[in-house]
Amino acid sequence: MAQKVTVSVIKADVGSVCGHTRPHPDMMAKCDEMLKEGVMQGILEDYYVTRVGDDINLFMTHYKGENNKDVHKLAWDAFYEAAQLARKMHLYGAGQDLLADSFSGNIKGAGPGSAEMEFEERKSEPIMFFMADKTEPSAYSLPLSKIFLDPFTTTGLVIDARAKKGFDVEIHDVMDHKKVIMSAPEETLSILSLLGDTSRYAIKRVFSRAGLGTAAVVSTDKLNLTAGKYVGKDDPVCVVRAQSGMPSVGEYLQPFMNTMLVAGWMRGSHYGAFYPCSPEDSTPTYFDGPPRVCCLGFQLVDGHLQGLEPMGSAPGVHVPVDYFKGAEWDYVRNNAVKASKFMRTHGPFMPAVLGPEEMEYTSRPEVLKELTKRMENLD
Ligand code: 13P
Ligand code: 13P
Ligand code: MG
Ligand code: MG
Repeated sequence: MAQKVTVSVIKADVGSVCGHTRPHPDMMAKCDEMLKEGVMQGILEDYYVTRVGDDINLFMTHYKGENNKDVHKLAWDAFYEAAQLARKMHLYGAGQDLLADSFSGNIKGAGPGSAEMEFEERKSEPIMFFMADKTEPSAYSLPLSKIFLDPFTTTGLVIDARAKKGFDVEIHDVMDHKKVIMSAPEETLSILSLLGDTSRYAIKRVFSRAGLGTAAVVSTDKLNLTAGKYVGKDDPVCVVRAQSGMPSVGEYLQPFMNTMLVAGWMRGSHYGAFYPCSPEDSTPTYFDGPPRVCCLGFQLVDGHLQGLEPMGSAPGVHVPVDYFKGAEWDYVRNNAVKASKFMRTHGPFMPAVLGPEEMEYTSRPEVLKELTKRMENLD
């Protein structure tokens, strides 16, 4: 049996220029330099450094398995060095997602988000990387449900014999740190009964029931809980494998043609519409949003990320397929701005703002404290 390859995405916001906008190019260059060193040291096979909004995303490939200490430490060190640059420039939120004082073996619980999958590389292995800013992991639940549970979205569930066997969905209760694996299509309605509560449940993984391994993985490290207080929405990534028994590239993209409201946006406390775009266009510029989602594609080739550059280019020099860059997505972008603007007409009232348990900022406890003496019982 061939050696299994691991695709790891580790991401963090360690500072940005003028509010929660975008990291300084020097920070990206520093991460690139550190990961290049990681390849030389034999920790990584390949990597790609990119960003969505103010979040730096490190795509890494290696043969060390999930939760590998060397891989996690490399990512931590890259973010640490980028945060040092951010601190020097007094950037906004410098070091924001580095919650631990030092690295202690695993990135989980230390602040950065991670999504990793180990699998046997197929003859042709198209991998898509979704990255979102100003939102939470459960933002992917609706599109992933359509992709893996809905034959009106994914025709492959009907006409591809392997996809037709269905998919197992690992759902996390991000509040109580519990998980359950449920099977689609048999348990579709029960799966949706959980996932509909986006404040508590999120898809962590999806597995092929045709023996192809993991199909999708989402970063679900809830920063508010790891930090013991709300310090930022996770701005999650989702990595998926496409075609030949998995949903096709086009089936993965299709749900994003719909306008979806997601939690996050300004101060992590509002509902705004998902705005699909290129990483170049991912700087949040309207009320710190709208929440951005990007999607980049590579072929995996013997553990390397093959993009549009000629074979044999230096490691780290990659040009992925940029799925949301094109003009057909202008339609969704326009709708996203319209929907977001509509939500803004409600100002500080629900449903423009999130429910009390999800608000990242609130002054209510202080207001209630001040009112203790004036608050009277009703008759
Ligand atoms: P091609 O015939 O262009 O390979 O496309 C097949 C397919 O599955 C498209 O989703
Ligand atoms: P980030 O989570 O992207 O840092 O944004 C936080 C925020 O408060 C935006 O208004
Ligand atoms: Mg930020
Ligand atoms: Mg962010």
